[in-house]
Amino acid sequence: MSEARFPIGVFDSGLGGLTVVKELIRQLPCENIVYFGDTARVPYGTKSKEAIVRFSHENARFLLKHKVKMIVVACNSSSSFALESLRKAYKLPIIGVIVPGACKAVGMSRKKVIGVIATSATIHSGQYARTIKNIDKNIKVVNQPCPLFVPLAEEGWYDNVIAQQAAKKYLQPIVQSKADVVILGCTHYPLLRNVIQRAVGPKVFLINSAKEIAQEVKDLLKKMGLLNTQGHRGKCQFFVSDKPQHFKTLAKRFLGCAIKNVHKGSGACMN
Ligand code: DGL
Repeated sequence: MSEARFPIGVFDSGLGGLTVVKELIRQLPCENIVYFGDTARVPYGTKSKEAIVRFSHENARFLLKHKVKMIVVACNSSSSFALESLRKAYKLPIIGVIVPGACKAVGMSRKKVIGVIATSATIHSGQYARTIKNIDKNIKVVNQPCPLFVPLAEEGWYDNVIAQQAAKKYLQPIVQSKADVVILGCTHYPLLRNVIQRAVGPKVFLINSAKEIAQEVKDLLKKMGLLNTQGHRGKCQFFVSDKPQHFKTLAKRFLGCAIKNVHKGSGACMN
């Protein structure tokens, strides 16, 4: 079988990476995808660098057993801490969400003030801010961890009074900074898009890192001659390290459609 037909491997700390799969399916409908969600160890956004790096390597090794042609690190917390070390360890192309989201944000900002909202791990890594400053050192970056957004999204509370109050409180420093672009630097945040948009005002442009990484994957596959051009819809396989049924139930919210089969497999226990 030609390498182009091999699947794209995607991993995340849990469910949230399905927002990236959704964009991959939209932009690359012919690609086969193998997804691994580390539901046994989610959340990553509250964990240390050491733990996130170790888990990310285990997840990557799980995907490699499925003969993937590329690895997409859908998790912002993993992309922030583990991308470099993953790239050093494995030969295949590995893409993270930070650079595509940061590049788009820099391109969109006229006022040169960009807000970044993400998990505590992603914010404390400083990776978005560094990447933005590397592109344009004159840009001011306003960082804001929003830890409650992950459970709110998983609970399906996208736009109730609690979500509205959390958004108002978290986003206040960004509103005060007069940022004209805000990066949704976490897999879950696209689900809270409406409430976030209302909190920052209609003129602020929100960057969905999932969309940007899917575009980057497409460009890279094209460049490497690895685009799957077989002409029919690709197949998606889903693996999680715990509670496949729970994943299946919540998946529809993140993916926009129901999934049939979720298998149990663990990055940590695979030999
Ligand atoms: N996937 C994580 C991220 O994008 C959010 C959930 C978690 O904290 O594990 O950072």
